[in-house]
Formats: sequence, C-alpha cells, structure tokens
Amino acid sequence: MLRYSRADLYSEDVPLADIAARVGTPAFVYSSRAILNNYCAYHEAFAELPHTVCYAVKANSSLAVLRLLADAGAGFDIVSGGELFRVLKAGGNPNKVVFSGVGKTAAEVEYALESGIHSFNCESESELALINAMAARRGTTAGFAIRVNPDVDPSTHPYISTGLSEHKFGIPIADAIAVYERSRDLGNLSAEGVSCHIGSQILDPTPILEAVDKVVALAGSLRNAGFPIRHLDLGGGLGVAYRPGEEAPGIREFIQGLRTRLGASGLCIMVEPGRSIVGQAGVLLTRVLYRKKNGDKEFVVVDAAMNDLIRPSLYRAHHEIIPLRRRNLPRITADVVGPICETGDFLARDREIDNVLPGDFLAVCTTGAYGFVLSSNYNSRPRAAEVLVEGDRSRIIRNRESYEDLIRGETI
Ligand code: LLP
Repeated sequence: MLRYSRADLYSEDVPLADIAARVGTPAFVYSSRAILNNYCAYHEAFAELPHTVCYAVKANSSLAVLRLLADAGAGFDIVSGGELFRVLKAGGNPNKVVFSGVGKTAAEVEYALESGIHSFNCESESELALINAMAARRGTTAGFAIRVNPDVDPSTHPYISTGLSEHKFGIPIADAIAVYERSRDLGNLSAEGVSCHIGSQILDPTPILEAVDKVVALAGSLRNAGFPIRHLDLGGGLGVAYRPGEEAPGIREFIQGLRTRLGASGLCIMVEPGRSIVGQAGVLLTRVLYRKKNGDKEFVVVDAAMNDLIRPSLYRAHHEIIPLRRRNLPRITADVVGPICETGDFLARDREIDNVLPGDFLAVCTTGAYGFVLSSNYNSRPRAAEVLVEGDRSRIIRNRESYEDLIRGETI
C-alpha cells in the first residue's frame, strides 16, 4: 500500500507528506486496506475449514485498528485485562476472544469470565486451579486450552522465541496429557482445545508445521481419552519482510500448508497473527532536525526516537528508512538517531539512505506492529499521533500527547 507516485510517497491514495504537514511528526500512519487485505488472506485461505482468526492485540492495540478487524469478523488474542477492555470498547465479540499469557491475575480472570470470553490458554496447573475456583464462584464453566511447549526451535531472535523447553512458556508437551487428566477433578473447567505458539518473526514456517504435527497428535490422544477438544489454537508468529529482498512466507501459502495437515482433524482451527496483519501496514513519519558529522561519522538527527520505536535498540531490528519526497542527490551513509540521551537511541546505523536535509520528512517502514504499543514517555517525550488511511482519506485515530497528558495522574 506504500508506493511512490513521481517523487512523493503515498499510503493508499494519500501523500504522506500531507499527513506529516497536517498532523506533525513523529506520527504512525496505518493503511486500513493493507490491514484488511492481510486479515482476509488468513480468513479466505482457511476457506471451508472451521476457523477463527484471533488477531494478537499486543501487536497494535489502537481502538480504530481493533474496530476495523472486529467489523471484518476477527476474533482477538489478548494477554491482559487492558487488552480485553480495548477489544470490548472497539466492539469486538467476547465470544471470539482467547486469553493467553503466563501470568494472568485473579482480577483479570474474573473480568474475562464476566465478559464471556471463548477460552483461556493456560500455562500452568496453578493457573488452571485459579480459573476453576473463580468459575465455580460464578457458577459457570470456563473453557480452556493448555498451551503446550512443543520444544521446537523457531530460529528467530532469542527474545521472541518461546517454544523451547528452556523458555517460561507453556507446559511441556510430554506432560500435557497428565495435566488434562488432573483437570478432570476440577469441576468448573471444560477442555475445549490445545494451544501452542513458538515465537515471532518466523521466516521459515517449517518449525511451526513441526509443532502443529505434535499438537494434532496430542489432540487426537486427548479426544480418544474422552476430552471434548473442539479447537486447536496454533498461535501467531508468521514473519514479515523488513529488508529489501527478504523473503517472508505468504499468508495464503502458509495457511494452505496448515490445511493439508488439519483438514481431516474435524477441529476448529484458531490462529493468533499479529505482525503479519499490521506490520507492513504502518509507517512512522519523522522529520530531519539536523545533520552533523563527528569525525568521519555522519549523523542524521530526527524527531523520532527509541521511545517511539524501540525495535532497533532492543532487538537490533532493521527498518527501512525512505524519504517522503525523493531528491535526486547522491546517497549518504549515516546513523539515523533520535534526540534521546543514550547512545542506544538509534533508528538505523551505518545505513545508506537518501541525502536528506533538515526539514525533510522520512518514513520508517514496517512499523505497524510492535511500534506504538512499545512506545514510552522516556525523556518526557509525549507519545506520537496515530493516523488511519482509508483510500483517499486519512483521519487521526490518536491525538499526539500533550505536556498535560505527561503528568496526568501525578501528585506532588
Ligand atoms: N500469540 C502469542 C501467545 C504471542 O505471544 C504472540 C507474540 C502472538 C500470538 C503474536 O505473534 P506475531 O504473529 O505478532 O508474531 N515485540 C516483539 C514481538 C513480541 C511477540 C510476542 N508474542 C517485536 O517487536 O518483534
């Protein structure tokens, strides 16, 4: 959805320079068409197979983004009471919500039961006991899936790899049947499914498929043992291309790969994609403040920083940086850095980019996922505005924070 027309960069049919001028920078801009296309790619590829695409709210939890997906029929994967609150505010259907996460609190479980969510993805026996007790108190039955840890290596950044036995996530797959067996003694639980999520930004889906085979086999054994098991939740994790020439798996091909493995299972298939739905739909707009040279090193100082986009600092992640208006000047090699007082505050290092001048606008690409949601007020910087593009229109979906917003709730 991002393209140049002559010298100007557009999101759908809106010149991004117009948004930067109107809304200011830094600002995140999302293409609604890109988000919906990605959602539909999942939904349509499942075709006749019973399924729910539960968008992983953590990737981008802005209300307008959630509303777009809710209207398209999406379910939601949440990991906190706050995310549930957002989903409900955005008009999401609680009956299509799954609640993941290793540390759900009693208050969060209560809120989820009261809202009537579809199912809990449970990660420990103590969590099962808590959910059972709270469901009993309400006189209801809670649906659950155990998140199993299949011990496969997703080959991704160690911070976002979750499916190895050394990680905190899930219950080892070898122990799962015993845990389901013990759950029979808990009267207010119903074993609705099995879940699994092995990591994020996975560019080769082979390990996901390997995990799926293990989970399907487990679901079969559980059904034979008399558990209801109606769904498999296969998590998220499909990667996107951040660098030019990087190959990311196609959503449709990936789901077709799943279908051939799952078609005969008779189970409803759930997936929890985040990044592959919103990642490429977003850009972060920023303005060049200064150019400077320290010795031989060239710096482009911009008005977005690690508080706006932490992925380069935290994961050494690569985001393409391109101008909103191309100039025909020789390219330069520079560090693109923000105003924050840390050497770790950079958006790119030793990067060949267009020759830009103070006042020029740049787009930091593929920042629709894990961009705004990971932003902070570090250095007392107000958080960025967010804009949604729909065809030839754009609208602000979150105002830029003010200085007053920065101190809201504080007392001296
Ligand atoms: N389901 C569960 C249980 C998860 O933990 C995650 C992501 C997802 C689904 C969605 O995964 P996705 O489809 O987006 O890969 N902040 C990191 C990514 C952290 C991912 C955490 N869990 C980053 O910026 O790369």
